[in-house]
Amino acid sequence: AEPLRIALAGLGTVGTGVLRLLEANGATLAKRAGRPIKVVAVSARERARDRGVDLSAYDWVDDMAMLATRDDVDVVVELVGGSDGPALTLARSALAQEKHFVTANKAMVAVHGMELGKLAEAHDAAFKFEAAVAGGIPVVKGLREGAAANRIERISGILNGTCNFILSEMERSGADFGEVLSQAQAKGFAEADPGFDIEGVDAAHKLAILAAIGFGARIDFDAVAISGITEVGAADIARAATLGFVIRLVGVADCDTQGSGAPRLLQRVRPCLVPKDHPLAHVTGPTNAVVVEGNFSGRLLFQGAGAGDGPTASAVVADLVDIARGDTGLPFSVPVADLEPLEAADPGHRVG
Ligand code: HSE
Repeated sequence: AEPLRIALAGLGTVGTGVLRLLEANGATLAKRAGRPIKVVAVSARERARDRGVDLSAYDWVDDMAMLATRDDVDVVVELVGGSDGPALTLARSALAQEKHFVTANKAMVAVHGMELGKLAEAHDAAFKFEAAVAGGIPVVKGLREGAAANRIERISGILNGTCNFILSEMERSGADFGEVLSQAQAKGFAEADPGFDIEGVDAAHKLAILAAIGFGARIDFDAVAISGITEVGAADIARAATLGFVIRLVGVADCDTQGSGAPRLLQRVRPCLVPKDHPLAHVTGPTNAVVVEGNFSGRLLFQGAGAGDGPTASAVVADLVDIARGDTGLPFSVPVADLEPLEAADPGHRVG
């Protein structure tokens, strides 16, 4: 069968992870997908850097934007990051040229996802972003496919590995915030700008994406009420423990159908008191976990590594397998249900 031909933009930890995964699992993937998945061209900011992978089999392209214009490419994979700039330019141009587009870029999907979704529909192209939410955990597919039969009642999740590492380390060792943040940076899962992690923005990007899929709403990042973990001190964690709680940064999306008028989607990210017997209380270290509550499925727990080269590459390649099999559907619906956003909702800081 004809290979699915890939152009890869960005050769950082995730990009090189994708190349290594395709190399290691290529034969199995070709069987599963019914055709080989073949990288034909790559581009990154710096050519000379030693990444520990052999790039000689791929065309090197200096100008990343040119990846979208090649006739020998079926899918553009964007692993550059940033909500705007080269990543967005590449996304728009790839979709406009009827290339399928796969990304791990949560900020871009959270901010420009609706525009890109419409563009993908108009050009009959796939727009997939499993890797943008919770790294290796297949929660986008879990919501879109696994929970498809349900009315989703609530999505709650630990969506930032850096914050979860900081909070659970403070809890374990009694260390203070600054000390543990430095460790998270040294371990490499914090964002280039760790402000996005500790202020809750990164988790909010991911929550807005999940909420849109689960509730059939538009992606509305601006409507997420956000507070991060910078005010959480060792004393708060100790006090919570004496009361039978742990503190976690939790994103929650649910739907307020009580008021008169249209249902409202409530989205918030904030440090929460989580009872010690709740599934999210057991999530420690840089792990992510998402609880999806469906009206027939009951409570589903998705848990795993929310960052890192292997897990994130695994989610990127799963999207490529879908496309190779002919599944080019969007993870969310366009047009979408008309839920009104509710910005400043405060249904409390406890997770039940
Ligand atoms: N900085 C993010 C985290 C990486 O800590 O979860 C994955 O999005």
